[in-house]
Amino acid sequence: MSQLLITGGAGFIGSHVCLSLLEGGNNLVVIDDFSNSSHQSLQRVCELSSVKDERRLKVFQGDIRNPKDLQNAFDAIDSAFDAVVHFAGLKAVGESCKSPLRYWDVNVNGTRCLLEVMKNNDCRTIVFSSSATLYGYPDQVPTPESADIRPVNPYGHTKAAVEQLLADMASSEPGWRIACLRYFNPVGAHPSGLIGEDPNGTPNNLFPYISQVAVGRLKELEVFGCDWPTIDGSAVRDYIHVMDLAEGHCEAIDFLNRGKPQLITFNLGTGNGYSVVQVIDAFEKVTGIEIPYRMGLRRIGDVACSVADPSLVAERLGWKTKRSLSDMCRDSWAWQKANPYGYCHH
Ligand code: NAD
Ligand code: UFG
Repeated sequence: MSQLLITGGAGFIGSHVCLSLLEGGNNLVVIDDFSNSSHQSLQRVCELSSVKDERRLKVFQGDIRNPKDLQNAFDAIDSAFDAVVHFAGLKAVGESCKSPLRYWDVNVNGTRCLLEVMKNNDCRTIVFSSSATLYGYPDQVPTPESADIRPVNPYGHTKAAVEQLLADMASSEPGWRIACLRYFNPVGAHPSGLIGEDPNGTPNNLFPYISQVAVGRLKELEVFGCDWPTIDGSAVRDYIHVMDLAEGHCEAIDFLNRGKPQLITFNLGTGNGYSVVQVIDAFEKVTGIEIPYRMGLRRIGDVACSVADPSLVAERLGWKTKRSLSDMCRDSWAWQKANPYGYCHH
């Protein structure tokens, strides 16, 4: 049992990881400013994990750029945190091109602030949400962790900067335990349909878009590009079920706390790529609902193919994904069907 601080724990990935960590017997303190999430997600996490004892999940509304807010969260428990799991940040690629200052402030300055407060409180273990977006246009697919880091948008630049900052911390003094987890494309939801992804406005990402077409909120899907050098011309991604991702975090925390101080960097993906058209077919098959779509132009900044080489994490942590593309479609749909308008019932 560990005491963990979860930044951004009310968000899509954070809420699922909180559930897995509570089920693993850990006690959690969440700090989130709710700029991109609802208070309801963590209430539902409590329901699902049947946490009756309020001391097992404490929630603080606060901003990671504010040292006072962070210190409040650190003061919530008597001892030091065993680890911080750091999800809080901004993640929309398009928005990052329009507002780079905001992205550098929240993602980089926010993390700098968090590390300072961690150091002051004698906590030197952190799991960081990094991204496959770091690889830009990779030379090698499936892509191993050793591939070049050359992001192509401000969001990716901020993730690369934080990874560099974490490496600098690790070499500045002994004792730091750091895991940079590079997620590929997290999708799906907890199979209960109680928690899931709830984007603001029209979704940018494929799974929420398809789900909103299926539920009747959107008319049709536009497939961005049909001339990519792939199996059917649409772009290929490595979609990973958010519950697999959550379990990967639990393994990474155990591994960090068991071993010697070190910095580890892992891809979290399945190693399998599916095209947009294959995803549409899988979704239609699982749900029995037809998804109207039309072929459109390539989206600026997209790559043809992004697939993880997940062998390093399998070798070091003995962890690999268990859930299929059908599971991802089934669970995304269960969430969307039960919550057509996400956490707020319009
Ligand atoms: P999300 O937006 O659902 O969750 C992020 C959470 O952080 C939200 O609850 C938001 O309110 C909170 N937050 C934002 N700014 C904050 C601040 N200044 N102080 C405190 N809280 C703040 O996003 P997510 O999909 O759950 O992503 C979590 C992390 O994983 C992010 O760092 C993201 O960059 C990274 N990531 C996500 C994906 C993806 O496709 N979803 C892929 C790779 C990496
Ligand atoms: N797509 C469509 N139509 C849509 C939405 C998406 O055809 O309406 C296509 C995209 O062009 C892409 C694929 O579906 O080929 C997946 O797109 P997403 O927007 O769901 O995901 P991305 O691969 O573009 O990027 C996501 C996150 C990034 C993260 C990256 C790698 O949005 O933040 O995965 O982790 F960095």
